[in-house]
Amino acid sequence: MKTIVHKHPLAVRWFHWINFPVLALMIWSGILIYWANSVYMIGPAHKPLFKFFPQGFYKHFHINHRLAEGMNWHFALMWLFAINGFLYILFTIFSGQWRYLLPNKKSFKEAWLVLLHDLHIRKYAPPQIKYNAAQRIAYTAIIVMGLGSLLTGLAIYKPVQFSTITALCGGYAAARAEHFILTIGYVLFFFIHIVQVIKTGWNNFQAMVTGFQVIKPSAKKTSQ
Ligand code: HEM
Repeated sequence: MKTIVHKHPLAVRWFHWINFPVLALMIWSGILIYWANSVYMIGPAHKPLFKFFPQGFYKHFHINHRLAEGMNWHFALMWLFAINGFLYILFTIFSGQWRYLLPNKKSFKEAWLVLLHDLHIRKYAPPQIKYNAAQRIAYTAIIVMGLGSLLTGLAIYKPVQFSTITALCGGYAAARAEHFILTIGYVLFFFIHIVQVIKTGWNNFQAMVTGFQVIKPSAKKTSQ
């Protein structure tokens, strides 16, 4: 018989769904700012393989000459991003949800087994409670990345007032590069996250909306 189990607390669902559009707008407004001094590229400076971003990209998405607008959005939304993130971390600590989220001793070994299972090389996935080992590592990493974005953001926003943070980041130029790399990390995470959500199916997705998941009898032993 199918059973319905509670999976995601209401607070986590709110934090998650607030974070998604806020982060998307942070990235968009960040690109508006980045246009004014777009220095990063892959490959040698005289002949880059890829430039972040080609002029055609800025033109196509009407990004040119919107620096002030970008800064307004970015510095307003960073408050929401930071407050939502801190409340999420506090909730995760005090509700005990961290037990399902943080990687444990076995997670780094098991993450390979999860990957092999996802690639259809291994038949069985390791048993899990709420999240599998790969999810634990990815979700914890994304929280640490959020903190990293805030710190590197502060380091380049107010390098004089937050000179200690700027110095800890390795100076202004290093902090700016770290801020940029973290953003690329979110985009990569996002694509993998979406592919996994689609692969896992509707039942898993709707649990992040309603809080509840339907468990079929055969799945009871391995997932919550
Ligand atoms: C359309 C966009 C998104 C969709 C459809 C989506 C969907 C989901 C779903 C279904 C889960 C639960 C996974 C499970 O139970 O196995 C989840 C968890 C999670 N997602 Fe997303 N997500 C989206 C965007 C994002 C973004 C942008 C981030 C952060 C960069 C993010 C970070 C997380 C984290 C940290 C968790 C674990 C939350 C916890 O339990 O504390 N998601 N997401």
